[in-house]
Amino acid sequence: MNILVTGGAGYIGSIVAEELIREGESVVVFDNLYTGHRAAVPPEAIFVEGDLADRAAVKAVFDTYEIDAVMHFASYTLVGESMEQPFKYLGDNVTNGLNLLQEAVAHGVRRFILSSTANLFDQPERMPIDEEERIVPGSPYGESKHILERILHWMDRIFGLRYAALRYFNAAGASPTGERGEDHDPETHLIPRVLQVALGQRDKIVIFGDDYPTRDGTCVRDYIHVVDLAQAHILALRALDHGSRTYNLGNGRGFTVKEVIETCREVTGHPIPAEVGPRRPGDPAVLVASSEKIRRELGWEPKYPDLRTIVEHAWEWHRTHPHGYED
Ligand code: UFG
Repeated sequence: MNILVTGGAGYIGSIVAEELIREGESVVVFDNLYTGHRAAVPPEAIFVEGDLADRAAVKAVFDTYEIDAVMHFASYTLVGESMEQPFKYLGDNVTNGLNLLQEAVAHGVRRFILSSTANLFDQPERMPIDEEERIVPGSPYGESKHILERILHWMDRIFGLRYAALRYFNAAGASPTGERGEDHDPETHLIPRVLQVALGQRDKIVIFGDDYPTRDGTCVRDYIHVVDLAQAHILALRALDHGSRTYNLGNGRGFTVKEVIETCREVTGHPIPAEVGPRRPGDPAVLVASSEKIRRELGWEPKYPDLRTIVEHAWEWHRTHPHGYED
């Protein structure tokens, strides 16, 4: 298959592109390099630098390459930023997705995979969170993904576009080849920030609140290895002929912020000073996924469920690329 990967120069998109190529698929990466890195794009992929806001550029990709399926990663992804700049999310994330969908449909594409998010579940009633959970987006970012999921529902009904919406919990780790990993500026995510302390790039890690109703007072998250996420995309793509689907993706096990920091200390051998600061607005206390549905329906089985392995792969990447793709 020829697969168009938008955002294929980003953290998750580039690792999914790498896995697709390993499995023999042809990949066209479309990315504006706004947050992505040219060096992250696998050399076997065709790279088109362009912006989804530029409808003519999107059309040109579909005119030039016989695209069989789209995996859509390109997006603004910061929960906090979306609370300050909602139009960037409720506007651009949605209209860029619509540009992509309109051209995909116009060119007869019938398979589409959307990167969605655990930020759909701001007030979960049950833990772990399954696909029946009530959707309450926690921010304009989450809302933008919710809108795109709803748009896909209608694309399926009206045009027969088969889609999978994959709601990631906390993507972490790096490719086991050590070639691709997380490189955000600014970095907001917990594991890379903690590892920056071990690298001497930060003095300490600030824990955002220790008065949550959890076992040690810090927030609980479900960290999922980025390669396991990638495998879920590939399985979902292959199942699309049997109908559209939505899956929550995590390991089904939660770790507190303090447990993550402790694991990073063990893996790096660095003391990693930590200090408790105020809560970060908008953080739910606990987010743990039930991924029973994708296990049952597609036989998905995470290869790297251990937090320690996830941190080891992340550490290997950060240690060998202390300045990310600049190295
Ligand atoms: N945290 C700290 N200190 C830091 C950074 C993070 O204590 O310096 C804490 C956060 O408060 C949170 C946990 O570590 O409790 C994980 O934070 P991340 O920023 O790594 O991840 P989030 O759970 O906030 O966000 C993730 C994805 C988002 C997605 C969201 C869904 O990165 O894209 O889950 O809730 F929208």
